[in-house]
Amino acid sequence: MRSPNVKDNRHINFIILSCIVILLSLSLVTISFPSGLNAAEMGKFKQSQFKSPKTCKGCHKGIYEEWKESMMARSFTHSWDETEYFKLALEHSGQLKKVAGVKAGCIGCHSPLAFLTGDIPPSPVNKNTRANEGVSCEICHYITGSTQKEPFNFSFIIKPGTVKYGNRKDAESPMHDTAYSKFITTPEFCATCHDEQSPYGAWVKSTYREWKNGPYAKEGVRCQDCHMHYSRGKSASMGNTRDDIAHHVFHGSHSPTKVKGAVDLSIYAEKTTFSPKDTLTIKAVLFNGKAGHMIPSGSSEERMLWLEVWAIDKNGKSYILNVSPKGFKGEKFTIADPDAISYQAMGEIMGVKGFKGVKRDGDVPKGSRIFRKPFFDPKGRMTICQWFTKDNTRVDYRIGPRETKIETYSFEIPEDISEGELTIKANLLYSQVPSSVGKFLGLPEDEYAPMLVNSASMQVVIKK
Ligand code: HEC
Ligand code: HEC
Ligand code: HEC
Ligand code: HEC
Ligand code: HEC
Repeated sequence: MRSPNVKDNRHINFIILSCIVILLSLSLVTISFPSGLNAAEMGKFKQSQFKSPKTCKGCHKGIYEEWKESMMARSFTHSWDETEYFKLALEHSGQLKKVAGVKAGCIGCHSPLAFLTGDIPPSPVNKNTRANEGVSCEICHYITGSTQKEPFNFSFIIKPGTVKYGNRKDAESPMHDTAYSKFITTPEFCATCHDEQSPYGAWVKSTYREWKNGPYAKEGVRCQDCHMHYSRGKSASMGNTRDDIAHHVFHGSHSPTKVKGAVDLSIYAEKTTFSPKDTLTIKAVLFNGKAGHMIPSGSSEERMLWLEVWAIDKNGKSYILNVSPKGFKGEKFTIADPDAISYQAMGEIMGVKGFKGVKRDGDVPKGSRIFRKPFFDPKGRMTICQWFTKDNTRVDYRIGPRETKIETYSFEIPEDISEGELTIKANLLYSQVPSSVGKFLGLPEDEYAPMLVNSASMQVVIKK
């Protein structure tokens, strides 16, 4: 990600120099840089200023258990995160000046405690340091604002102390002070970590910006409303019973129950009876009625949603249907092609001799439509390295909030097809990482195995 303060060494030197000048002449304690991004907060704090989430568990048991199971608690320890940081980003930061800032930058969001206390790079996960706490309770509940109006790149302002900032005006705790903070109740709070700009200026994460431009922002439906469920109960053992306690599940694309049904799918054919040599054409209608942003969102460099359609004749023989191209710019990146090779940068960073790349589309069957936003490195090759992304504006074929996309799939009915019923099946699948990349990097299979988002089926009749 881009952090103007660490763009190049001259810039840093200039900033350090200006800090000293400002400090000496004005005796200011806090300095906010015109660039606004707070790389300056790095190393400014001590570990003892942040309590372990286990301290909160005593009274906030429910919230603790929910958080513990969420990706927030695993943002540093989850194996794909560990792999990408240590095997790729950290290596790369030492090889290429332009991306040197990611050594600290990744940690700004994935392990804010390590970032704020200057533990850069943090020790690997198996060393069990406090970096493993990930996005912990006291990170979020000490954040009071952002230096940006539309935040991104860990531009949060954080005030560790005795006060926990929350969403209630009347919360009282025997353990700590509390204060109401409007900021924590807003999507801008989430945006501090959920939107990201690369060192090349590309918007490589834009969940907040997608939300902001979509229908939910206008209706006042926040990130919190969809990702933190509310129910009657208590947030603390000694607390008040309330109608709308905020649960800390933060379910997203790692949760099969959240992903399931996130896109509606229906299929239909224009006719019901076909003969050999006819072209069988199916329309598939997809509707994003549940997510407040694009699907996929977040780490779009590696997320794929795709639609596989096939037909099965009466004797059980199956035939793949191919999507009909629409002819838009960059479309070739959205139609699965088993021969396309990409992601050369990851092998180069790892120093793999003669690395030619791996399959661009993993194991997605040929001819399936892929709803994705491809990212390109400075050499114009598709990449999963979001920090090494120069351009991702060639094509964006994801499904927007409340958007409907209609795809046409077809195949020519062969002579040898069996007479009678022909079943058409469609599966909409989602995967976090292309399987080819997952296998190359040795990730556990469940971190890239496809999840079923939706399926549909229908029947037509073959007459000879
Ligand atoms: C001894 C019990 C106890 C411990 C330990 C404790 N809290 Fe609390 N906390 C409470 C009570 C009681 C409330 C008030 C709940 C209410 O008003 O319904 C509260 C409220 C809060 C609030 C809500 C403030 C608001 O405005 O809505 C936050 C945030 C919070 N605690 C964070 C933490 C964190 C983080 C920790 C761990 C570092 C922690 N608490 C440890 C008892 C505790
Ligand atoms: C990713 C940021 C984040 C993390 C991590 C986080 N919280 Fe929260 N917490 C929030 C937000 C946001 C709200 C307010 C939701 C709203 O506006 O409705 C909240 C609300 C609360 C409340 C008040 C609930 C209510 O409805 O009265 C308590 C108590 C609390 N958090 C404690 C904790 C504890 C304890 C942990 C760690 C186990 C934790 N939080 C981790 C973001 C976070
Ligand atoms: C301090 C940084 C930070 C803040 C603030 C923050 N998040 Fe996150 N969030 C992360 C990181 C880092 C991850 C990625 C975890 C991973 O997959 O490694 C994440 C993961 C998630 C996920 C899981 C996504 C998935 O793929 O399963 C959801 C949902 C989410 N955050 C929602 C929110 C919401 C809603 C808010 C605001 C109330 C918020 N976050 C605030 C850093 C943050
Ligand atoms: C109307 C409900 C709704 C709103 C509002 C909403 N989300 Fe989501 N979000 C979802 C659903 C449903 C999914 C699961 C489908 C998916 O993965 O895209 C999801 C997925 C995600 C993911 C995982 C994306 C991926 O592809 O890996 C993240 C991260 C996330 N949301 C963060 C946010 C943030 C931050 C906001 C506010 C700026 C927000 N969401 C607003 C419903 C919502
Ligand atoms: C501005 C905050 C931010 C920065 C900086 C950042 N990330 Fe993330 N990262 C996130 C969030 C938020 C998510 C979750 C988005 C989603 O679920 O799609 C995420 C997701 C990921 C994932 C996918 C995790 C999964 O389980 O699928 C990986 C891997 C990752 N980040 C690695 C990195 C690396 C390496 C860097 C540095 C080059 C980095 N991140 C920089 C916020 C950030």
